Parts: sequence; C-alpha cells; structure tokens
Amino acid sequence: MEGNTILSIRNVRVVFEDGFTALGGVSLDIGENEFVTLLGPSGCGKTTLLRCIGGFEKPTSGEILYKGENIIPLPPYKRNINTVFQRYALFPHLNVAQNVSFGPDLRHEDKKATAKRVSEMLELVGLAGFDKRRIASLSGGQQQRVAIARALINSPDVLLLDEPLGALDLKLRREMQLELKRIQRESGITFIFVTHDQEEALTMSDRVAVMRSGEILQLGTPVDIYNEPQSAFVADFIGASNILPSTMVRDRLVHFLNVDFPCVDAGFGENAPVDVVLRPEDVKLKPETDPVDAPLGVVESLLFKGVHYEMKVRCGQDVLLVHSTHAREVGMHVKITVAPEDIQVMHKSDFSPDVRKREGSVQ
Ligand SMILES: Nc1ncnc2c1ncn2[C@@H]1O[C@H](COP(=O)(O)OP(=O)(O)O)[C@@H](O)[C@H]1O
Ligand SMILES: [Mg+2]
Repeated sequence: MEGNTILSIRNVRVVFEDGFTALGGVSLDIGENEFVTLLGPSGCGKTTLLRCIGGFEKPTSGEILYKGENIIPLPPYKRNINTVFQRYALFPHLNVAQNVSFGPDLRHEDKKATAKRVSEMLELVGLAGFDKRRIASLSGGQQQRVAIARALINSPDVLLLDEPLGALDLKLRREMQLELKRIQRESGITFIFVTHDQEEALTMSDRVAVMRSGEILQLGTPVDIYNEPQSAFVADFIGASNILPSTMVRDRLVHFLNVDFPCVDAGFGENAPVDVVLRPEDVKLKPETDPVDAPLGVVESLLFKGVHYEMKVRCGQDVLLVHSTHAREVGMHVKITVAPEDIQVMHKSDFSPDVRKREGSVQ
C-alpha cells in the first residue's frame, strides 16, 4: 500500500446470535485514495465486513480505526463513509436531481450550493442534463450512476460499494467498471468494492483481498494475486486451471507429471507435499522428437479461441490446459515444458485438489 492509511481494520470478528462466525478475525489496512476490492464466493463474509465498516453491524470484537480513531461506537451517519448498496435503493417518486440532493436536503444545506453540487456530480458520473428525468425512465446502468452520485455528493472520504454492478448485463458491466475506476481517480475518494467476480476485481483494483469463510486468505495487487497465488483456493478462484499436487524435492526442484522440474521457489523443506500452479499460457509444447528432457503427453482436444488455441494434454493421471498460438493436432504426442519462473509453488491446504478428491467434496 502506498500513501497514508485511512482505515485500519484490526482483528475484526463477527459471531452472529445463532453462533455462526461470519468473520474470524480480519485485519486489513486501507490507504487514502486506494481502490481495494474484497473478492470471494457468496457467503464468505464480504457484506458483513462492509457493514462493519459502514456502521450497520457491530463487530463482536476487534477495532476499526478511521484516521487513527476507533469508529466502532459511532453510528453510520457520523462516519465519513458512504455506502452504495447492492440494490440501488433510489427513491422512485423523486427525479434524478432530487435523488442526488437527498443527503444535503436532509441536512437543510443551502439550496443554491446544493444545485451546483448536483450538476457537478451528474457531470462526474456521466449524467449531465438528466436532472429532471424520472428514475423509472433510466436504464440499470444509469440508475447505478445516480446511486453513486447520491453517495458522492456527501463528500465521503470512503465509499463502500457492495456488488454494485451485479444487476447489469455483461457489456454494461464492463463499461461501468471503467467508469467507476475513472470516478474513483477523479474524485480521489477511497473505494472499498465488493464482488465475487475475479475478472472485475483484477480489472479495477489497486489491491485485492481474497476472502474465504470469514478470513482474508491473500492480499495483494491484481498482478501479485494472479501470478503468485499462495494457496490452491486463491489460484482456483482467480481462474487458474492447472493446479497439480506435487512434491518439493528440495529448494528449487519440484516433482510433478512424474518428473523433477527446476523452479525458483525455496523454503518448503525436502520431499514436502505442495501444490503447483501452471498458467495455460506458460505450458510450452514441443515436438516428441525435440531432444529436451521433458514428460510426454497426448493432445486430447483442440479448440480455436480467436487469439489462441486451447488444448487439453493428458500426461498420466493429469490433464493440462494449454494456451498457444501454435496448434497441435488431437492425438499428437508432445513434450511438456515449463520455464522455472513460470512454476508457482504453494503450500498445501484443505482446498488442495488431492485433498478435495479424497474428501469427495468439490466446491
Ligand atoms: N444476521 C445474520 N445471522 C446469522 N448469519 C448471518 C447473518 N447475516 C449473514 N449471515 C451469514 O454470514 C455469512 C456471511 O454473509 P455475507 O457477509 O452476507 O456474505 P457475502 O456478502 O460474502 O456473500 C453467510 O453464511 C450468511 O448466511
Ligand atoms: Mg454480499
């Protein structure tokens, strides 16, 4: 994280009345002007964490510091934090401008100054001139923008967004992702964004916190999370396709596909069970006749995907997904190579593919 910390979430636990632990001691520092995304499957505690930050849920224990001050005793309206909810909750009987000016009007702020701010906010969210429009006459994307303008007019330091794009179709969703990113940059407000969509998280965020079962499993930049997942769950959730149970022979040597591969990782011990992630684009197929010492596989399927070919290559028990601009025909025998720096070694966890297979539980 660069810059000053604006929010510091420290060991926040939420245990509901029925005894269910929704957050098991979450810690996270968020910087000024940062775009942080909470990413994880449904039910992992994203909304609960956001509600704690917004003041709608009181943690069972832990602290939430805003510029160094514990804000847990403060009600939502006394926090300089606004929320855009999953359902936009606009007022259908008010027009666009009246929806946006709702907060300032409630506080009886100067009408003229508010009108000016409304125009500025509508401009910022790309709805200049929509002031008098009825909410029902707007598309989903436009309603979303009104909800954002309505939150931004209060000049919060932090904006919480709970799956705000979930109701939009894919094309609109992509557009709004870029729009939100632009609004965040131009407004200089810290965004804490919630989604279960990995692509959305990787596209928009400065940093991503990957959550599972009330915990943050990994926190990092999109590039870190994508290139260096630290567990099979994170690798799987952000869309990695080749996760192989493996053995770390010793530092910088890992065994999978029945072969020892040189790698760059160390510190896992000797003959230690690990998981390995291989990106489909990092697996390079060579002709069977190539002199390189590498495991043999057979091409089981070949699909043209536009930019690249997608192949499935069987090697013993394992089937690898391979992306390449070079097609290999089905039935062809190939040698499977991976550069040492393209092998990502991870500690074993309860989500490891072989562990899940044994338990017979597939998530
Ligand atoms: N008031 C509540 N009482 C008991 N369990 C709850 C309550 N609110 C949420 N939960 C449970 O807490 C877990 C996390 O919920 P939530 O934070 O909404 O997840 P997410 O937003 O990641 O989908 C879920 O299993 C949910 O059923
Ligand atoms: Mg939720």
